[in-house]
Amino acid sequence: MTADYSTQPTATYNSAFLKACRREPVPHTPVWFMRQAGRSLPEYRKVREGIPMLESCMRPELVTEITLQPVRRHNVDAAIYYSDIVVPLKAIGLGLDIKPGVGPVVEEPIRSRADLARLRDLTPEDVSYVTEAIGLLTRELGSTPLIGFAGAPFTLASYLVEGGPSRTYENAKAMMYGDPELWADLLDRLADITAAFLKVQIEAGASAVQLFDSWVGALAPADYLRSVMPASAKVFDAVAGYGVPRIHFGVGTGELLKLMGEAGADVVGVDWRIPLDEAARRVGPGKALQGNFDPTVLFTDKDTVERKAREVLDAAAGLEGHVFNLGHGVMPNTDPDALTHLAEYVHTATAR
Ligand code: CP3
Repeated sequence: MTADYSTQPTATYNSAFLKACRREPVPHTPVWFMRQAGRSLPEYRKVREGIPMLESCMRPELVTEITLQPVRRHNVDAAIYYSDIVVPLKAIGLGLDIKPGVGPVVEEPIRSRADLARLRDLTPEDVSYVTEAIGLLTRELGSTPLIGFAGAPFTLASYLVEGGPSRTYENAKAMMYGDPELWADLLDRLADITAAFLKVQIEAGASAVQLFDSWVGALAPADYLRSVMPASAKVFDAVAGYGVPRIHFGVGTGELLKLMGEAGADVVGVDWRIPLDEAARRVGPGKALQGNFDPTVLFTDKDTVERKAREVLDAAAGLEGHVFNLGHGVMPNTDPDALTHLAEYVHTATAR
């Protein structure tokens, strides 16, 4: 990975989070939480009151405030840009909305070749509010790095083809198996949109990017290799030249970790289903790992949280680079104080 010093201050470049991503020695294990900004925080619920989810993503001052809330509260080592994976799709004019308690819902699912024409390229002007918000954020964040993110082609396709959230992805997978050419063209279109969206975030000042392939664990490795990996690799290749760490995460991906690393990630995210030492064996050398505390443990007591955090840290002891995180996002009913305590425990237990 070539370092690009032009885009970020030295103090940010030398933060524990970015050092761990680069597999350099760190003063303490850095920690942040997927979905750290959002429903678990009362201050978030307050500023979001009466504002629909997608609209909240298009207001730079509000995005800045929401992104900063967990940094202030939990003393985490990185901020993640507040948005949603469907924002770039909305920005190119697709009819979709986020329904409270349901998730992203698409008016007219993408099912045919003619439907692909609705997926036009994304330009920076389509998401000028992102550039503006990241400009505000990097000024406020000081040396705390900002992570930009996007949904990976498979996970975006799962919403677009199904028309909404799904447990089985039957329509998406049927297209993948039954019409591989249409599927490949769909994922390739989504790769271009995703790459353009990540570039906007990096050029505005994001110090790292995470590609969420949350639902790709539904696939067998051979199908991932053939039908998904080329599109994800295209996204990673498109942003390789910036030199910012590229993180890749999905749920239930124990059998896919090696391939997800090979798609072009510098850091591979791991859920709680396999320990990090086993994940490292599967991923192989040259990659940092991120994870993998089970978010439901936060519903127990302090001693249990510390004991389970210790297990994660022990399994990570031999890794070259470790970013402490949950194995998936913060759950809505989580007590925010439990997160603050977990971040503090990781910092104290790993201080060198
Ligand atoms: O905290 C909150 O959930 C409130 C705001 C919100 C987000 N997305 C923020 C978000 C809401 C209501 C959504 C809708 C949405 N989009 C859902 C949840 C549906 C519900 O009500 O339970 C889902 C599942 C999506 C689709 C989506 N968005 C996925 C699959 C991902 C990838 C991360 C994951 O959870 O697997 C996202 C990213 C996302 N949505 C982030 C945020 C702040 C960014 C990443 C992060 O903070 O880690």
